[in-house]
Amino acid sequence: MSHIRGRFQKDAAEAVVKYTTSLPFDRRLYRQDTQGSIAHARMLAKQGIISTDDAKVLEEGLKAVTKELDEGRFIFKPELEDIHMAIESRLLELAGPVAGKLHTARSRNDQVALDMRLYTRDAVTETMKGIRDLQLALVEQAEKNTAVLMPGYTHMQLAQPVLLAHHLLAYFEMLQRDYERFGDCFKRADVMPLGSGALAGAAYKLDREFVAKELGFSGISQNSLDAVSDRDFVIEYMAAASICMMHISRLAEELVIWSSSEFGFVEMDDSYATASSIMPQKKNPDVAELGRGKTGRVFGHLAGMLATMKGLPLSYNRDLQEDKEGLFDTVDTLAASLEVFAGMVGTLEFKAQNMRRSLDKGFILATDVADYLVKKGMSFREAHGVTGRLVNYAIGKGKTLESLSAEEYREFSTLFGEDVRGITAETSIASKNVPGGTAPGEVSKQIIRCKKILGQVG
Ligand code: ARG
Repeated sequence: MSHIRGRFQKDAAEAVVKYTTSLPFDRRLYRQDTQGSIAHARMLAKQGIISTDDAKVLEEGLKAVTKELDEGRFIFKPELEDIHMAIESRLLELAGPVAGKLHTARSRNDQVALDMRLYTRDAVTETMKGIRDLQLALVEQAEKNTAVLMPGYTHMQLAQPVLLAHHLLAYFEMLQRDYERFGDCFKRADVMPLGSGALAGAAYKLDREFVAKELGFSGISQNSLDAVSDRDFVIEYMAAASICMMHISRLAEELVIWSSSEFGFVEMDDSYATASSIMPQKKNPDVAELGRGKTGRVFGHLAGMLATMKGLPLSYNRDLQEDKEGLFDTVDTLAASLEVFAGMVGTLEFKAQNMRRSLDKGFILATDVADYLVKKGMSFREAHGVTGRLVNYAIGKGKTLESLSAEEYREFSTLFGEDVRGITAETSIASKNVPGGTAPGEVSKQIIRCKKILGQVG
C-alpha cells in the first residue's frame, strides 16, 4: 500500500490504479520536478524550516534520481500514481527518512502547477526557435526568387500578378505574429506558484521570491486558489499552437495545389516527397498533407482542454491531470511540423516558366486596363464597366486582352491609346508600389526588414 494511503483499509482497485495514474505520461516532467524540488529544499533550509544538512542530502538525492532518469536506469513502479510520487519514493530509498521532509509546506497541487509552468516555458522557447527556422527558409526562398512572377489569387481565381517572393513573405508575416503570440504566452507561464500549498497557501514562513529567483521566474502567483487550478498558460500555448498550425496548414494546402501537374508551380525535393506503392509515375506531397492533417489534432487538444476546464470549481480538481497528454502532443506535433516544413520549404524548386505561363490566362491584367482608364480621367466604376465589356468581347473572340488591337480597344473607349498595349504583368507588378505592395522595390524592402527581424542583417 502506498505511503499516502494512511486512512485507507484497502488498496485501490487495479482498474482504478490504471485509470488514475499519470505516470506513463507525466514522467516527461521529471527534470522540472527535481529542479523545482531542489529550489524548494534550498528555500526551506534558508528559512530555517529544515537544516542545511538535510537540504544538502535532499539535493544530492534529487540529483542522483535525476541521473537515474537521464540514463534510463530509473525503475517506474506502476503503483506510484504520478512522477511526483515516483521521485519522492525513490528519494526515500536513496536518501533515507530525510526524504520525508521535502514535501514540507508543499502539495502536489502547487508542485504540478510549477512543473507544468517550467515545462511550458521551455516548450515556448523551443517553439519560438522552430518558428524562426521556418521564417528563415521562407526569406531565403523569397530572396532567391525576387524575379519570379506568378498569378495572385482570390477565390482561387486568377486575380492579379504578384511576385513569388511577395507570396512567400505573406507566410513570414503569419509566423511573425505566431512568434509574438508565443512570446506573450511565455509571460503568463512565467509565474511561480509554489507556496500555494494544496489550495490555501502554506503555514510556514516561506520565501517564495527566493524560489522564483532560483528557477528564473519573473514573479510569483498572487492567489493560491487560482494558482493551483490555473491552466490558462496551457490553453494559451495550445491556442497559439493552433493558430500557428493553421498557418502551416494553409502553406501545406498551397504546396499540394502548386505541386499538382495542373499547376506545376513547384517541385518538391525527393527527400520531402513520397512515392506511390502502385503508380510508379507519382511523386506525392504526403509531407505537406500530413502537416495539414496534423493541424486537426492540435485544434482538438485546444477544444478538449477548454472543455476540461469549463466546469471546474475552485480549486484543484483531478480533471486537471488531463492537461498533460494534449499539451505534450501539441508541443511535439508543432515542433515536428516546423522542422519538417523548414526543410521542405528550403528545398522547394519553383517553376518560374509555368508560373509565367499561367499569367497569360484569365485576363489577369483587366484591373490594370481599368486603372489605365482612371489615369486618363475616367471614374473607376465606369472604367470597371468598360473593361468588363472588353473582357466579354475578348472571350467571344477567343482572344486575350493582350492580343486585342488598339482599334478594338478604342471601340470601347476613345481614351484608349496605343500605349494600352504596353500593359504587361511586369508593369502591373511595378505599379503596386505602395508599402506592403508587390512592386519589386517594396518586396526588396520587406526582405531586408524580415532579415533584420531574424537578426540576419545589422
Ligand atoms: N498527477 C496529478 C496531476 O497531474 C498531480 C496532482 C495530484 N494532486 C492530487 N490532489 N491528487 O494533476
